[in-house]
Amino acid sequence: MHLTNEEEKMLAGEEGYAVQKNMQILTALGDIFGADKMIPVSSVQVAGVSYYNLGDAGLEYLETLADKGARTRVKTTLNPAGMDLENWRELGIDEEFARKQERVIQAFVRMGVIPSCTCTPYLVGNEPGRGEHIAWSESSAVTYANSILGAMTNREGGPSALAAAITGRTPSYGMHIEDNRKPKVRVKIDTKLAAVADFGALGYAVGKKIGPKIPLFEGFPDVPVEQLKSLCASIATYGGTALFHIDGTTYKGREAPPENITITHADIETALRALNDETAQVDFVALGCPHCTLDEIKQIAGLLEGKKVTREFWICTARQTMKEAEEMGYAQKIHAAGAKFACDTCMAVAPLKGRFTVLATDSAKACYYGRGTNDFKTRIGSVEECVNAAVTGNWS
Ligand code: F3S
Repeated sequence: MHLTNEEEKMLAGEEGYAVQKNMQILTALGDIFGADKMIPVSSVQVAGVSYYNLGDAGLEYLETLADKGARTRVKTTLNPAGMDLENWRELGIDEEFARKQERVIQAFVRMGVIPSCTCTPYLVGNEPGRGEHIAWSESSAVTYANSILGAMTNREGGPSALAAAITGRTPSYGMHIEDNRKPKVRVKIDTKLAAVADFGALGYAVGKKIGPKIPLFEGFPDVPVEQLKSLCASIATYGGTALFHIDGTTYKGREAPPENITITHADIETALRALNDETAQVDFVALGCPHCTLDEIKQIAGLLEGKKVTREFWICTARQTMKEAEEMGYAQKIHAAGAKFACDTCMAVAPLKGRFTVLATDSAKACYYGRGTNDFKTRIGSVEECVNAAVTGNWS
């Protein structure tokens, strides 16, 4: 791989141990994927923040980097941690876990990483523009950045994203190369899609049919960010793609993709059935995968007004969004109903195994991690159905 003089000096250790180690990670990655050079990045988002996933080895790695002087060179934000950094006790997190999680966050902060702890960085100020090369790692955010914002990023691992932050570089391969971003399958949508869960089901159906191939959607409805982030999360989870195109808006190319499929009402129904376990009882309700927008919180607050929840109910969101919800009076209604904000964290990265058995949610991705990481049974439906389950304990 060609390196500039400055990059050669970084690799030789002239800018210290931390820069050298991280440049070694990136050159090794570039060699594996056949990159011919490094490119500068303007934004980084680091996953692998929860102590639940990092363990002591991950914590030690981060603290060593911080001790050795690692510092970010570009705007860098964090994915959700394993707990709400302020109200962890209220969410039932034990003290030992909390202390370790706090050390993880402190190590990141010492390196200059903004502890935003959200998988929707584009909602809270880390919003790169079209054509910008970036290094993000959370899969739904990566797909959102590539597909909706038009930025260019591979799906980085936590260490390679952090290495990009510390060096300001990433190897040029994969989604950074224009030719690799061409659509491979035209996906005709031949059904009505409305609710957030429908778009999760769409991602599930398309992901199962075409895997990581890049789809070009035809007949895609004009929908807000809530539906788009749901699709990004789901299609990345069930298919592994980091990019999709929408005909006429995000894609103006003329080249016809080599394959064609159609998504019908039956495909969406099949997806929703596959994500719904046959059980009527619910003991945990969680919304905000990916993290809730202010509008979603407003809707939840309206549905909860004058009611009391009887089941644990988490609203996962960025702390910044929760503060806006407080200013708007939505948070107070949510607290009055007995529901809880889970800021900085989510139902997938918090240590919840064994605490609950049936998760109700509007997110196809949350179903995947609820089942896989926490052994939950899952119910997926509308926000109204989820709120009703939190109040009555029943899924109707
Ligand atoms: Fe975000 Fe957690 Fe879902 S990181 S996308 S809320 S699994």
